[in-house]
Amino acid sequence: MSLPWLQHFPLFLAPMAGVTDPIFRTLCKEEGADVMVTEFVSSEGVLQAWQRNRRYIEFEESHRPLGIQIFGSVPEHMAAAARIIVDAMHPDFLDINAGCPVPKVVGKNGGSSLLKDLPLLQRIASAVVSELSGDCPVTAKIRIGWDADHINAPETVQRLQDAGIQAIAIHGRTRSQQYGGRADWDIIATCACAAAIPIIGNGDISTPEHVRHAREHTAVAGVMIGRAAMNAPWIFRQARHYLQTGQIPPPPSPGARIRFMLRHTRMALASGHYGEELTTMRAMRSRLLAYAKGIPGTKPLRPALSRVSSYSELEHLLAPLLGSSEPEEE
Ligand SMILES: Cc1cc2nc3c(=O)[nH]c(=O)nc-3n(C[C@H](O)[C@H](O)[C@H](O)COP(=O)(O)O)c2cc1C
Repeated sequence: MSLPWLQHFPLFLAPMAGVTDPIFRTLCKEEGADVMVTEFVSSEGVLQAWQRNRRYIEFEESHRPLGIQIFGSVPEHMAAAARIIVDAMHPDFLDINAGCPVPKVVGKNGGSSLLKDLPLLQRIASAVVSELSGDCPVTAKIRIGWDADHINAPETVQRLQDAGIQAIAIHGRTRSQQYGGRADWDIIATCACAAAIPIIGNGDISTPEHVRHAREHTAVAGVMIGRAAMNAPWIFRQARHYLQTGQIPPPPSPGARIRFMLRHTRMALASGHYGEELTTMRAMRSRLLAYAKGIPGTKPLRPALSRVSSYSELEHLLAPLLGSSEPEEE
């Protein structure tokens, strides 16, 4: 079973819990993201409360090709959860999380704690691959190791490959680094050279030049972009244009970026994904702050954005920054 989207150096939107909800995925798709992965869902949650947990992994047909990500530590449970998900949702691939550093996941031996027990990770991968064989390709997302003294990405890749995993995204940090320090692209490059399966490079890609550098100087089959897309989802369009023409299109104007913030908020409210207006606005606060970074004139608004409670309040805050001469884009 092949992953045809890997043929043209795809730009992945990285899975980000609490961020890459269906609305943000729709926006990133419009902005040129080629492949996306849902926020992760716990295998135990899928087995115990499927209806409650499926909201984390819902997607639109327009988001394809799309992978659904699961985490857990019990091979049989991971396989059973994968089967439920694939039968109900028909994703293009199923992704195993072996990189999440948060205590809630690591404490249950899932996510990056699997990097300390590669035989268990391999058993999980084999169980999921054999359960889904012929129905859905299985991929994985890993970090380069648990800490600086235990960098084991090459062995992890080899074991996952042996288990039948078809592609691996490598975030070039250890679990100990969390999101600090720099992603180690030398290790990603080493793994990409040695692996027989496609490797997707991830970590600190924040400009079109970074994307081109990864394509030209490493053997990765594509790159995955996370936090930079939170600030500037148009990075996908800019990077693709740069790869094709060598020119970087300018980012949207400040007025267009403000309209993007308002549109994202309206879409979130209309979807009901986060519930009523107040809960939606609460969920939007960190998103609005991320978008506002770098827009001239927004610095004094940051405290108010971090408390904003209604759409009309947001409109009122942002109205002075909407360039009156710029046309509406919707
Ligand atoms: C808020 C947030 C949530 C994340 N949630 C997930 C997740 O659910 N699954 C996952 O594999 N990685 C998750 N990550 C890690 C990202 O996918 C990515 O590996 C990391 O941010 C490095 O890429 P970047 O430098 O482009 O941001 C998350 C990262 C952030 C910042």
